[in-house]
Amino acid sequence: MLTVAAAAARAAILAGAATAMLAPREGEWPLEGILEEVVSGPFLGRPLVMYLDLAFGLSASLMARPTLRDVHLVLVDLKAPGGAWCQRQTTEVLQTEGMVHLALLGPNSRRFFEDLAAAECRWRPAYLLLVDAWGGSPDLLTDAAFERVEWLALLTTRDSPSVPPSVVIYSLFPFAQQSQVRQTGVWDANTSLTHLFVDRFPSFEGYQFQLATWLDDNPYLYQTTEDLEGKADGLQVEMLDALGHALNFTYTLTKEPPDLMWGDLEDEAWTGMLGMVHRGEKNFTVNFFGYSLDKTHAFDASSSYWMEGFGLTLLAPPPLPRWRAAYYPFQTSVWACGGATFLLVLLIWTLQVRKQQHKFFITLSPVLYPYR
Ligand SMILES: *[C@@H]1O[C@H](CO)[C@@H](O)[C@H](O)[C@H]1NC(C)=O
Ligand SMILES: *[C@@H]1O[C@H](CO)[C@@H](O)[C@H](O)[C@H]1NC(C)=O
Ligand SMILES: *[C@@H]1O[C@H](CO)[C@@H](O)[C@H](O)[C@H]1NC(C)=O
Repeated sequence: MLTVAAAAARAAILAGAATAMLAPREGEWPLEGILEEVVSGPFLGRPLVMYLDLAFGLSASLMARPTLRDVHLVLVDLKAPGGAWCQRQTTEVLQTEGMVHLALLGPNSRRFFEDLAAAECRWRPAYLLLVDAWGGSPDLLTDAAFERVEWLALLTTRDSPSVPPSVVIYSLFPFAQQSQVRQTGVWDANTSLTHLFVDRFPSFEGYQFQLATWLDDNPYLYQTTEDLEGKADGLQVEMLDALGHALNFTYTLTKEPPDLMWGDLEDEAWTGMLGMVHRGEKNFTVNFFGYSLDKTHAFDASSSYWMEGFGLTLLAPPPLPRWRAAYYPFQTSVWACGGATFLLVLLIWTLQVRKQQHKFFITLSPVLYPYR
C-alpha cells in the first residue's frame, strides 16, 4: 500500500514536469493509441513504471485521458543515465512482480538501458514491454540489459502500406538454436497479457548447463564412485534428470568448489559454490542451502522443497509400579465413596454392638438381618 502511494506521489511530481515539456509537441509520438490500449487492456489495474524519452514524449492531452489518469505511475526519463536512476529506486519499483514496466523507446533510448546493465543494479522487472514506434530492428531484445527480465515483449510497426500501420509483437527465445527473436503475434485492442507475453522458455533445446556443486550432500547429492569425477547420485540428480527430460537440457557437475566453501558473503564477495555462480563461472547450483537475507538479495532460489525440523527428545518414563494396577481402575472419587461407605458401616455396626439397645436393634434388624 505504502509503495503504491509513494509511486503515485513520485508520479505526480514527474508528470507535472513532463506536461510542461510536452505541451508544445503534441501528437509527435507515433503510436499514441497503442499506449491507451495497453494500459486499459493487458495492463489494466497494474501499477506501471513507464520509461519515455521526454523529447519525443507523449502529448499532455493523452496523459490526461481517463485511462491513463487513474494509473499508478512511475515515470522515468530515458534521457537520464540509467545507472544513476536505478540507485535511487526502491526494490518495489525495480523488482516487484505486480508492477509492469513499459518503455516507449525513442531513437536513442538504448543508451539508458546500456547504462543500466553496466551499473549492476537490482533492476529486474517481471514484465517489460518495449514499444518501438520508429520501426527499429527487433534485435534490440538481445541487449544485455534485458537478460534478467522474465516476461519480455516488443511492439513495433511493420513495414506495410496499410494505414494505420500494423503493430506486431516480438519476443526473444534465448535458448532457441535458430531465430531467437521471433514474431509472436499481431497487436490488436483485444490482445491479452498471456498473448502479449508468451512463454519464452518452453524448451532449453538441448542446452548444457554448468552447475556449481559439491558432491558431498547426502542424500541429495553424493558421489557414487571414488575415481569418476562428477559421477553423482541422489535426490537432486533425479530431479535434474526429470527436469532435463521434460525441458530438454543436460548438465555438468562440479566435484567440489575450489575453495571448499558452501557460499557466504565475505568482504563483499561470495565464496564457495555461490561465488562461482555469482562470478558467472557456473550457471546455477543445486546443493542444499539455507536462506539468509544476503542470499535472497543476490540470488534467485527455487521454491523450497525440504523443511528442516527441530525437536526435543526425552527419556521415556519407566513402567508404572505393580501396586497401581489395583489403584488405577477407579477414580479418586470412587475410592473416596468406597472409603466413606466403609466408615459409615463401621460406625453403624459399632453403635449397634456397643449400645445393644432393644429399640435400636429392632429398628435396624430388618436391614441388617433381612433373612432371619
Ligand atoms: C475485440 O473483441 C470483441 C468481442 O470479443 C469484438 O467485437 C471486437 O471486434 C474485437 N476487436 C478487435 C480489434 O479485434
Ligand atoms: C532437444 O533439442 C534439440 C535441439 O533443438 C533437438 O535436436 C532435440 O530433438 C530435442 N530433444 C527432444 C527430446 O525434444
Ligand atoms: C552458463 O555458464 C557458462 C560458463 O560461465 C557461460 O558461458 C554461459 O553463458 C552460461 N549460460 C547461461 C544461459 O547463462
